[in-house]
Amino acid sequence: MKIQTLLLLLCPAALLARHSFGEQQFSLIDGYRPWIEKYASSYDPNVDNDAWKTMKEIANENGFAHEEYKVTTSDGYILTLYRIPGFLNETKPYAKKPVVLLQHGLEADSMQWVINSPDKASAFNLVSEGFDVWLGNNRGCQYSVAHTTLDPVKNKTLFWDFDFEDMGTKDVPAEIDFILESTGQEKLSYVGHSEGTTQMFIGLSMLPEYYAEKMNLFVALAPVASLNHTMSTALKIMAANVDQVEHYLIDTLGMYNVFPPNYYTQWETAELCSTMASFCSEFLTLIADLDPSVDNLNRTMTYLTHFPSGAGYRNLVHYAQLINSDKFLRYDFGTAINQQKYGQSTPPEYPLEKINVPVGMFVGLEDELGDPEDCRWLHNKISKTVTYYKEYPFLGHMTFAIGKDMSFFQVDAINLIKQYATNSFE
Ligand SMILES: *[C@@H]1O[C@H](CO)[C@@H](O)[C@H](O)[C@H]1NC(C)=O
Ligand SMILES: *[C@@H]1O[C@H](CO)[C@@H](O)[C@H](O)[C@H]1NC(C)=O
Ligand SMILES: *[C@@H]1O[C@H](CO)[C@@H](O)[C@H](O)[C@H]1NC(C)=O
Ligand SMILES: *[C@@H]1O[C@H](CO)[C@@H](O)[C@H](O)[C@H]1NC(C)=O
Repeated sequence: MKIQTLLLLLCPAALLARHSFGEQQFSLIDGYRPWIEKYASSYDPNVDNDAWKTMKEIANENGFAHEEYKVTTSDGYILTLYRIPGFLNETKPYAKKPVVLLQHGLEADSMQWVINSPDKASAFNLVSEGFDVWLGNNRGCQYSVAHTTLDPVKNKTLFWDFDFEDMGTKDVPAEIDFILESTGQEKLSYVGHSEGTTQMFIGLSMLPEYYAEKMNLFVALAPVASLNHTMSTALKIMAANVDQVEHYLIDTLGMYNVFPPNYYTQWETAELCSTMASFCSEFLTLIADLDPSVDNLNRTMTYLTHFPSGAGYRNLVHYAQLINSDKFLRYDFGTAINQQKYGQSTPPEYPLEKINVPVGMFVGLEDELGDPEDCRWLHNKISKTVTYYKEYPFLGHMTFAIGKDMSFFQVDAINLIKQYATNSFE
């Protein structure tokens, strides 16, 4: 199929956007072109038929139950929490099952766990193996843009003033407390991907007692802590100019939410991407792995309609800061505010040595973001708590969600979770 035909099928809105922004400027097509060139060849609408569908629709059509909850964090963010507790034909209330919480990566949301083909989607694999599966949505992704008192548009400055440290110290605890209360369980297992691991390495460092009491295992897929060796071009471009980029995003564009789902209709995106074209195209192709042949390309359209999901700008700035240092540091607010917040002029390191929950590290040798060198550094740093560590030759960054061969999860991760699950299967 011709790329142009595919584009027409995929996103008429992009063509519209291009017209209204003019030829000089960015459009969705520019952002996705490299990605589409890599992925488009095997697109088949008969196979790839879950585009645009909600999690409930995808779950139900495959025989799974689906529930939705709202959880409020200690600082007022209202998060959407999904649950796939079992099959539709199971009698309620559901039997007490071991609980797993899945936490997505940057610019993704909980859909990442169900968009692979149903036999390969991690959320469904876990349910079929007898787990009660909960799916978190971090503040700032499209399902969690709400707050008890702040409006995300009218009070932008305050609403978007967070990063993945808040997700690890506030979002996940709010979700865990709610889940344990609802299920009557004492502990759960946590599976994070990418930023979902960054936030948990931080949470475990800063709230070690809290997590040791409530979590039996942390499965880290494509772990990201220190970014000393990352090959992610988008983040490197940003890192090279981090102060200017932050100033440009915020003071010039007022773009606090970077690439929300409707990003291609926003003038801010057009501006950003005409000024920093390489950043945009690299960023939007984050989903493309070094070697896309390891991914399940049958679901391209489904992936495209669920990515990107939006992210608070400070997550990106913080990652860029990490590239510029060779340590795993807290957010750098500048000397004056650092002094106020941390009692020192530079940001302190996260105390990774405090982690006291078993950690399984699943590392992809084709991963350009969670680079294997950085994972080895992290492994070395927290070796006493690492109960599983494996480097997989055919896994890229997104393969962890959209892989063709998901046996690393279906076999290795699920066996590990079963080993650490604190309550028995009934
Ligand atoms: C319930 O549904 C699942 C998936 O559709 C199926 O595998 C299973 O056999 C069903 N169980 C019963 C008791 O009908
Ligand atoms: C949020 O925005 C509204 C509308 O502009 C304003 O009335 C309110 O004071 C703002 N809240 C805060 C905490 O700044
Ligand atoms: C970061 O990378 C540089 C260059 O490869 C190396 O010299 C340095 O030791 C690394 N630092 C850490 C903490 O891994
Ligand atoms: C993609 O779809 C084709 C046709 O249904 C199927 O034969 C193939 O196994 C699928 N590939 C994957 C990775 O699921």
